Parts: sequence; structure tokens; C-alpha cells
Amino acid sequence: MPTIAASARAVPASRIREIANAAMQMDGVLKLYFGESNLPTPEFIKRAATKAMAEGYTYYTENAGLPGLRQDLAAHYRRVHGVAIDPATRIVVTASGVQALNVGIRCLLDPGDEALILTPAWPNGAAIVRMGNAVPVEVPLPLRDGRYTVDFNALEAARTTRTRLLIYTSPSNPLGWVATREEQAGLLDFARRHDLWLLVDEVYDRLYYAGASLGEPAPSILCLAAPDDALLVAQSFSKTYCMTGWRLGWLVARPDVAERAAQLNEFIVSHATSFIQRAAQTALRDGEDELLPMLHRLKANRDFCLEALRRMPGVTVPSPDGAFYLFPRIEGLADSFDFCWRLLHETKVGIAPGVAFGAGGEGSVRICYAAERSILEPAMDRLASFLRSGR
Ligand SMILES: Cc1ncc(COP(=O)(O)O)c(C=O)c1O
Repeated sequence: MPTIAASARAVPASRIREIANAAMQMDGVLKLYFGESNLPTPEFIKRAATKAMAEGYTYYTENAGLPGLRQDLAAHYRRVHGVAIDPATRIVVTASGVQALNVGIRCLLDPGDEALILTPAWPNGAAIVRMGNAVPVEVPLPLRDGRYTVDFNALEAARTTRTRLLIYTSPSNPLGWVATREEQAGLLDFARRHDLWLLVDEVYDRLYYAGASLGEPAPSILCLAAPDDALLVAQSFSKTYCMTGWRLGWLVARPDVAERAAQLNEFIVSHATSFIQRAAQTALRDGEDELLPMLHRLKANRDFCLEALRRMPGVTVPSPDGAFYLFPRIEGLADSFDFCWRLLHETKVGIAPGVAFGAGGEGSVRICYAAERSILEPAMDRLASFLRSGR
């Protein structure tokens, strides 16, 4: 009897989804397990999509995306990060951030190749590596003096003759860790010295709280790298513009990879949806005004949850600089999935188990704080009682 391909079977199910699937069968769950804001997409972006449809943006587009959108993305990089990116040769629009990772990784790895991944990390990067019959090698970010840091010795030790790629995410899901300029320079140098590709996931770059003022982006690796570096950056409209369901992202890459990624796009989804690409131009041009209030709200939520968590018994939690997650460590916790499962069924609070995020994740849980205070307050109360009761 034919069987499912080994590479497909090698991809483990998402442990976040397991919690979510159980939660979706229940009423009244306080949902903090997924990585999305419950703010709706701003009206002006929805209107732009409707207008684009009326204007006839309903046909196939270029594999690399609408030239106008790529130009607007380049203008966005100039304005927000102060970096020049050639839109014609280095930007490929993709049907989501996950699709940017997918098509990017496809361009870089052959079966049997190894990819180093800084973890705890959102599991999709490792799963995509596995789907290509390649091997993810997880290198944990150790927590030192209350801050996650890059362990360059561990990276050197994990490298083999099959290593082709290093992947990291900054700002990080689930840690909220943001690579400093020094860490970025060290990671770039590591990749250059060992002839590796570097793939950086920057989908949370606008959700950054440690700048001189809110609205300042997290530092992008693109500001340090040269155009001919073996570098790819995966990006998305999902988080900055509350557009998770729209499925739109982009890749910035060396011109040869960008060209190849656009070509592969043809055989995966051909291109991102045309009227959504058009609406994204409006999001880029007019989105800053909506971003700032969202950042104020997220920062206040982060501080509220941090304070609540720090009062709970056995909980230590570093203060994250970016994204919208907290990743508290719970003393003595050996099975974070079981903990989240019991928390869900006994208190109707849904959070994600640390084990879902790979090496270094067990013993912690992930809380997405991009929810209303009316959800966060009872969720923190119930988590505190659950921990106090020693369950
Ligand atoms: C680190 C990271 N990268 C990429 C994505 C993908 O975003 P999307 O596929 O919605 O654009 C997510 C979504 O949660 C994420 O957390």
C-alpha cells in the first residue's frame, strides 16, 4: 500500500494547535494561545481592498508581486529603517510571512542539509526545513542575568560540514527577545565566516518597545548587511497591520535568490492575491497613524501582565523588548503541555506550552498579550490561583 512520504511524516503536529483545537470545542475560553491581536484590520485597509477589486485588481500578477507594491516596500525600508533596497531585484511579495519562509528555505536547502535554528522559536521554520528533507538543528538562546542571549560557542559546536543555513527571529516569537546590534553583527559574521546562508525572520519588527520612542522599529539586519551578503529577511503584513487572515508577506534577498524565489512562487501559489497586494500599498502609506495607538496598548498590556506574573509563585519572566508575547518560566515545570491542558480544562485559560517552541522551551509557557484588558485581567487571576493551588 502506498504510504505518505517520510518527509511529510517527519513534520510534527503543532502543539499550540492541539491546545487551540481543544479550546475551540469549549465555550468561554480566554484565548491567549495564538499569535494575533484581536484588533480588526483597520477600516481604511479594508476599503482599499474593496476599491482595488472594483478597479479590476482581480487578475494574475507578476510572480514577484505588483511592481508598485515592491516600490512602496523599498520606500518603506528607506523611511523606517533608513536602508536602500532595490525593489526590482531584491524584493519578492509572498502570500504570507510563512510563505516567505517556505519559498526562501526551498531556495537554500537540499535534502540532508542542516539548518541551525536559534530556539525557543515559532515551530514553522523547523517544520519547513523538515518538509524539504533537510535537518533542523536547534541551538537554545540561554537566559543570562534576566536576558536571552546568543551562545556563540554553542553555535560553533552545532555546526557540521552539512550546515548550510542559520535561522533566527528578532523580535522573537515566543521570547520577545530582540537581537542587539552586537548580536546581529556576531550572527552575520558567523554566517560569513562559515559560508552559510542567514535567514532572519523580522515579522515583528514594528512591535518594539525599547526604542527612543514608540514607533521606532527593532534594528533590522538589513542595516548591517551588504546587498551581496547571503542573507534573506522574511516579513509579513500580519502583525503590524492586523492582517493575519489576509495572507501577505515579503522576502528581501540577494538578487539571485530573489529571482529564484519568484520563479518557485509560480509553482507554489503563483503570487499573492492581487487586490490584497494593492490594499497593502495603502497599509504601507497610511498605516503609521494606527500603529502608534496599538503600540501604546500593547506596551501597557505587556507591563500589566509582567507585573501580575511576577507576583505569582515560582514564576520568573524576563521583560521582552518586542513582539506581543511573554514567556514565563515556571519553577519545577517538567511538562508544559500537560500544564496548559489542565489550565485550559480547569480554568478556561488557553495559553501555549513552551515545549511547542523547541529546545529551551520546556518549563515555560507562552502568553500572547495582544488581547483586551477584559480578557487579560481574569486570565492572570485564574493563572495565579491555579499556581497557588499547586495544581
Ligand atoms: C515568528 C513568526 N514568523 C512568521 C509568522 C508568519 O506570519 P504570517 O504567515 O501570518 O504572515 C509568524 C506568525 O505567527 C511568526 O510568529
